[in-house]
Amino acid sequence: MILVTGGAGFIGSNLIARLIKEKEDAICLDDFNDYYSVENKRRNVKGLKCKIIEADIRDKERLLKVFQENKITKIVHLAARAGVRPSLENPGLYFDVNINGTINLLEMARQFNIDSFIFASSSSVYGNGKIPSSETDLTESQISPYAVTKKVGELICQQYSHQYNLNITCLRFFTVYGENGRPDMAPFKFYDAIANDRPITMFGDGNTKRDYTYIGDIVDGIVRAIDKNYRFEIFNLGNGNPVILKDFIQVIEKAAGKKAIILRKEMQKGDVDATFADVSKARKMLGYQPKTDVTEGMKRFSIWYKKNYR
Ligand SMILES: NC(=O)c1ccc[n+]([C@@H]2O[C@H](COP(=O)([O-])OP(=O)(O)OC[C@H]3O[C@@H](n4cnc5c(N)ncnc54)[C@H](O)[C@@H]3O)[C@@H](O)[C@H]2O)c1
Repeated sequence: MILVTGGAGFIGSNLIARLIKEKEDAICLDDFNDYYSVENKRRNVKGLKCKIIEADIRDKERLLKVFQENKITKIVHLAARAGVRPSLENPGLYFDVNINGTINLLEMARQFNIDSFIFASSSSVYGNGKIPSSETDLTESQISPYAVTKKVGELICQQYSHQYNLNITCLRFFTVYGENGRPDMAPFKFYDAIANDRPITMFGDGNTKRDYTYIGDIVDGIVRAIDKNYRFEIFNLGNGNPVILKDFIQVIEKAAGKKAIILRKEMQKGDVDATFADVSKARKMLGYQPKTDVTEGMKRFSIWYKKNYR
């Protein structure tokens, strides 16, 4: 039985759908908080044939009960406060959920002899380092509290793996987009605004680069990491093909069939200039092979959006 924390969220709900399709037993644990619309999260899990547990990962007693009552053998730990910019407003909440919550789950992994633990890390650990980013690069210059929580999370995972012989893989996701996408992230926000003739705000001069990664590729990488089950490894999961913001807006215009009204604002604090994943390690050790480019990915997103928002 695989426990997916944050299972009602964007990546978690897509992962559970895939696990169920492959006849794996999964449990979704999520606190359904209102960082973005709770309705979206309920809809994400509506069709999923799995047990859903509404719980906060900071609640140790509750977690203990969940592990006592269910035969959990693997954990995919995705639950987190996930916005970069809001973490500058409320760093304490981010440190509490993302760090203490992770420790609570690692404690469960230790006490219940969990066979495999996947930790959702982030490209943000690289800060404004060299690109393309590779797992051997130094990661000592995070520029948001959120990014710090992911770096600290990796270190704590490494410590638990080393001290208690746990199999733990940390996956650094690069700007994920697609079906069930997060409404606070640019791909969804921009598409939603353009499709509804509202202006979009472009921060910076449009030349910032992001390695947008389609959700199907990310889910594939997670499943491969569960299967390989290394003792302790860190992998980049990106597309390996960054797109500049101006071009990405054009891709969205095409998918939405409308022109964008663009408002320009200064670059925001906490944002990095570019993300670009070197995925050669994941390719070699996981057989990870991102297949979907932004044109195809946004086309799929558009089909999903029209089904759910019109
Ligand atoms: N989407 C991306 O581009 C991206 C990039 C890098 C890393 N990540 C990481 O991947 C993971 C999943 O991200 P996502 O995009 O699906 O975000 P999401 O916000 O859609 O999903 C996270 C889920 O965790 C739940 N959650 C938050 N706090 C909780 C708590 N205290 N107890 C229980 N559940 C809680 C939320 O309700 C939400 O459903 C996160 O750890 C995020 O930091 C995402």
